[in-house]
Formats: sequence, C-alpha cells, structure tokens
Amino acid sequence: MTRPVLVVDFGAQYAQLIARRVREAHVYSEIVPHTITADEVRAKDPAALILSGGPASVYEEGAPSMDPALLTLGVPTLGICYGAQVMAQLLGGRVARTGVREYGRTALARTGATSALLAGLPEATTCWMSHGDSIVEAPEGFAVTASTTDVPVAVMEDPARRLYATQYHPEVAHTERGQEQLAHFLHHLAGLAPSWTNASIIDDQVARIRAQVGAQRVLCALSGGVDSAVAAALVTKAVGRQLTCVFVDTGLMRLNEGEQIDETFTRQFGVELVHVKAQDRFFDALAGVTDPERKRKIIGELFIREFEAVARELAAGEDVRFLVQGTLYPDVIESGSGHAANIKSHHNVGGLPEDLAFELVEPLRLLFKDEVRRVGEELGLPEEIVWRQPFPGPGLAVRIVGEVTRERAEILRAADHVVVDEIRRAGLYRDLWQSFAVLPAVRTVGVMGDGRTYAYPIVIRAVTSDDAMTADWARLPYDLVERIANRLIREVEGVNRVALDVTSKPPGTIEWE
Ligand code: XMP
Repeated sequence: MTRPVLVVDFGAQYAQLIARRVREAHVYSEIVPHTITADEVRAKDPAALILSGGPASVYEEGAPSMDPALLTLGVPTLGICYGAQVMAQLLGGRVARTGVREYGRTALARTGATSALLAGLPEATTCWMSHGDSIVEAPEGFAVTASTTDVPVAVMEDPARRLYATQYHPEVAHTERGQEQLAHFLHHLAGLAPSWTNASIIDDQVARIRAQVGAQRVLCALSGGVDSAVAAALVTKAVGRQLTCVFVDTGLMRLNEGEQIDETFTRQFGVELVHVKAQDRFFDALAGVTDPERKRKIIGELFIREFEAVARELAAGEDVRFLVQGTLYPDVIESGSGHAANIKSHHNVGGLPEDLAFELVEPLRLLFKDEVRRVGEELGLPEEIVWRQPFPGPGLAVRIVGEVTRERAEILRAADHVVVDEIRRAGLYRDLWQSFAVLPAVRTVGVMGDGRTYAYPIVIRAVTSDDAMTADWARLPYDLVERIANRLIREVEGVNRVALDVTSKPPGTIEWE
C-alpha cells in the first residue's frame, strides 16, 4: 500500500471532503482523529498531513487541539482554516477573535512574498472563507504570502519546515482553482506521485483478496445495489469461481432488479449465483403488520434466515469461511466515532448479523462512494447498476405505508418504475440522491372516464443530499411532475391521485418509514 496522506479531523464535515479531494488528485488519504499521537502518526508513515477545518475556537476551553510533535516530524503539512489556526497557535503565533467574520467568496491577494504554495496562481483570486477567528500573527519562520481585505494572514508558509496553511478552504468548489492548489501541495510540495487510480485500486484489492481467502470458497449476498455489486465483481476478478453469490428476492425489490442481477453476474461474469425466490415467505410474514419497526425487524430476520439456509447448504459440501461485505470508508469512519442517533432500526436491515460464523472480506473498506462507482465502471458493471441511487435494505416495504401485500407491492413497483423512468429521461437521475414513489395507506375518491374511482394516491419523493444525513426536497420541474403524474394515473392500475412530497430532512426522513 502506498503511504497515506493523513487528514487530521477537527470536527464537522470538513475532513471527509478533504480526504475525497485528495483522492481526486490520485493520492491515497485516510482520516484520523485530532487526538492521534505523534507515535501513532509515525507508525502510519504518512506522506503528508492535512489539518482540517472545524467548528471550534482554538483558545476556548476544551477546544480540539493536537500533539504539537506532529508539526516536527518533517512531514509536509497543510493546515486549513481551523487547522491553520491550530498550527499557528502551537508554533507561537497568535489567533484572536478580531470581530471580523468572513463568510463566502472572498478576494485573495498575494502579499509579494515568494510563495511555494500559490505558485502558478494569479496575483488575485477568490477563495471560500468561513471563519470567526483569525490568525493575527504568523509564527516565527513563516512568511505571510496572501491576505484578504479584512484578514492579514490568509496564507502562511514555512517551506524549510514544510509547513503550509490557508485560512480559506481550498477543498471547496467555490475556491478558485482550489483543487489545483491541493494537487500542487500533494504532487509538488510533498512530492507524491498521482498513483491512486482505478487500476491501482483494483490491483491492490485483488491482491489483498487473494492473500486473505487463498483457495477457500467465498459467499456474497447481492442486494441489487452498487456496493454489493462492485464488491462481488472485485472478488470475482480476484478468485473467480471460488465466489458464490446469493440473491434473496424478497418481493420488495425494484422492477427487473432480479433479472438484471442474473444477467450481469451469471451471464456476463459467469459467477455461480443462487437466486432465492422468497417472495411468498416475505409476504406471508408481513401479512397484517403495519408498524414500521416491526416490518423492518421481520424483513431483517427473515433475510438472515434465508441467507443462512443457503449458506448451510453450500457449506455442507465444502468449507465456506468467507463472506463479502460492501462496507465503505465513510461507514468505517463513522462507526469509529459512533455518534449516529437511532432514528430507525436502520442500516443493519438487509445486512447480516455480526455473529455469523464468517470471516469478512471487505474490498470497499477504503473507498468513498464515487470511487466505488468508478471502480465498478472499470470492472465492466452496467451503467444501471453502477449509478443506481441508494435503496433501503427492507426495500419497497418502507415505502408502503400500512400493510405490505403482494398487490400493494405490485402497485408501488410499477409506480416507482414510472417515476424513475421519467426522471432518467429528464436527465436528472444522477443529480438526485434518491427519487422514488411512496404508497400511503389511504384511498381517495376520484373520477376517471365517467366513473367514480376510489383508489390509492402515489407520492413522488425526490431529494438532493450529500450523505443522507440531511436532505432537501428536489425542485423537480413542473412539466416533469406533470408527465410523471399523467403516466402514473394512466399506467398504474389502482392509482387515481398524485402528490409531491416537499419535506426536507429534518424534519422528514428520506424514506416514509
Ligand atoms: P432515512 O429514511 O432515515 O434514510 O432518511 C437515510 C438513507 O438510508 C436509507 N435507508 C436504509 N438503508 N437499510 C439500508 O441499507 C435500511 O434499513 C435503510 N433504511 C433507510 C435510505 O434509503 C436513505 O438513503
């Protein structure tokens, strides 16, 4: 593995964005907590450090700081915003609340001092600021190389100690040529080769998978989503026919999802695929159940039982020790900090319990979602799978308010297909985090032809989001909404009304249950 760039996390959402931007510059990055010690950092042998922004004030009681020895390791280091202030303070500079608050696009001017960090940039650019405190005095040895109208120390650097700092956020798209500045720091000031590419990720993971599983059989539960599909494709590339995939059709999948999985994995990749047609067992177990949490529990438990039955059968023939799991890097970071409140018994539904007697193979553990998608494309997975929007483990059940029956699942599946199809035609599918149909538990009166109808409404739910923690309702063009509504009423039997969900998250959640 190549030496990582460590992004020291001072809180809020900044560290992940920086880590992603570093990866976009084709350099491998990892996020570490600001409490990391210099010894722990040394053990990771980082190629560079980036100190992230954060919401605190450096001089407040209990404000996050870091081991000052991190700054004397001789490792090229870039401090950003709060990270720049921590660097300034630890090295004897001065940070203060001056009353100046800069927020948003701000003009940045070079001071005339020679700058290694800003080499190649024009004398004047714009940057993205978001701070209340300012560095009022740079530490000794630093040259101040850029300022704004209100803030004297916008960029400071000490090339002899390989320390650089920007008060603004180069990782944010609004900073003019910000990505270029980060890449310049990584490639030129830290001397890193842009070697983190799809091909290198695949080679690296293939080698790890081979080393981990040897000649043993590996199992993978396919869900139809991009993560399990890419994980399975990587394992196939590594150990070919040692992989057996299991697809449990719960009856709550999207239209043609099962067929597409068969097509891709059995025909295209030649993987051994066990397609469990468990629809009847799921609908039977869900009969009469309306409580959302009960539904989730029933589906989660039944899914595990179905999967275990297949695993046991396969294991009767030979030793199956390994199970593929599509865990992504953000899950790894988040489970480390363990802050997520339990709003819904969530993200383990549709997953597998930890006490299954398997050793996990997690080929996506180091990857962000956009990297997973690019790797998927490189491995030859179809566009439709690679770019599929997230889909909840319990499937359509959490979009069917009230009882889940075969008939209601059919209505919703057909409606969902119409919504997604029109959104794709409008070219919006990839811009939206999720877009789907919801089936409420009420029926309303309508008139069609010259007859009265008494049927279900469909709710269109479309949101934009970066990470599903918060979301905004998508402002779909009215003509698109109209087309969707017309088609829903015309094509989906049992539907006579269409509504648009204009709730953000919070207060709503993305799914209805
Ligand atoms: P909510 O509805 O809580 O959903 O705003 C946030 C994101 O999580 C997805 N989701 C799930 N994913 N198993 C999953 O793997 C689940 O049980 C589950 N429930 C919700 C949801 O689609 C959204 O992207």
